[in-house]
Amino acid sequence: WGGLGHKTVANVALQFLQEDALAGVEAVLAADGHKESDNPSIVDVATWADAFGRKKGGTFSKKFHYINAHDDPPFECNVDLERDCSEKGECIVKAIANYTQRLIRPSRNVNDTADALKFLVHFIGDITQPLHTEDKERGGNGIPVAWNGNGNKNLHSVWDTNMVKKLAGSDNEENLNAWTDIIVNEINNGSYKPLIPEWLNCTDPRDALNCALKWATDSNSFICTYVLKNDTDGWELSGSYYRGAAPIIQQQIAKGGVRLAVWLNQLFGSGEPGK
Ligand code: ADE
Ligand code: ZN
Ligand code: ZN
Repeated sequence: WGGLGHKTVANVALQFLQEDALAGVEAVLAADGHKESDNPSIVDVATWADAFGRKKGGTFSKKFHYINAHDDPPFECNVDLERDCSEKGECIVKAIANYTQRLIRPSRNVNDTADALKFLVHFIGDITQPLHTEDKERGGNGIPVAWNGNGNKNLHSVWDTNMVKKLAGSDNEENLNAWTDIIVNEINNGSYKPLIPEWLNCTDPRDALNCALKWATDSNSFICTYVLKNDTDGWELSGSYYRGAAPIIQQQIAKGGVRLAVWLNQLFGSGEPGK
């Protein structure tokens, strides 16, 4: 996802963090002494991993944002960890497992712990973007499409950014909070409420590899049911394609937020798991 998607995942999660988890998260981020704000929240660090990946010392983490499922959309969608997680085992599923492990057994180096938290906040968002779980044309980066008459777009960036902004408005704090309120209301009282048990069918951080694989498989299923169901090559996507995608996007962002909150509540909290 682009910046607005990641910040919304984190902002939704923030609404469901227990008090002790919130304090724990804030302590780790404060000890990191990073620049975004004086009292950093998970929203402030939600896009850190993208900026870090562009830095000289951060390129090792670029492959951690996705898993390239070599399936056969739209006929077959699935994720196979052995087959799809690169030769070196660098992919979003293993990254989530590894950085979760670093929060279960924190190192004495506070910066390592903070980096693990910042990576997790980001990757639990990215793993809900269907094209971050798909190999075809590098997750759609190589599929040319049009957006509002601009023919120089690709399918991946339209999913990451353009459709999210059309749904929520431009990437500013007002739209972030307004969209978060809509999503939180759907979770607490609306159409998402009955889906929550399904979204939270894997919540134990000690089982992180298995959970992250389930999350990737869930995301990847949308590749066959919608994202690549029709050949979008050269299509204008801002009309009917957008209208079909919008409910999927909002649900995936909501799902990421709820899963992130439960994950952090268990890693940092002392309360009942899953509550
Ligand atoms: N680069 C190569 N494959 C990718 C994917 N599935 N998502 C994002 N970037 C990629
Ligand atoms: Zn992306
Ligand atoms: Zn990313």
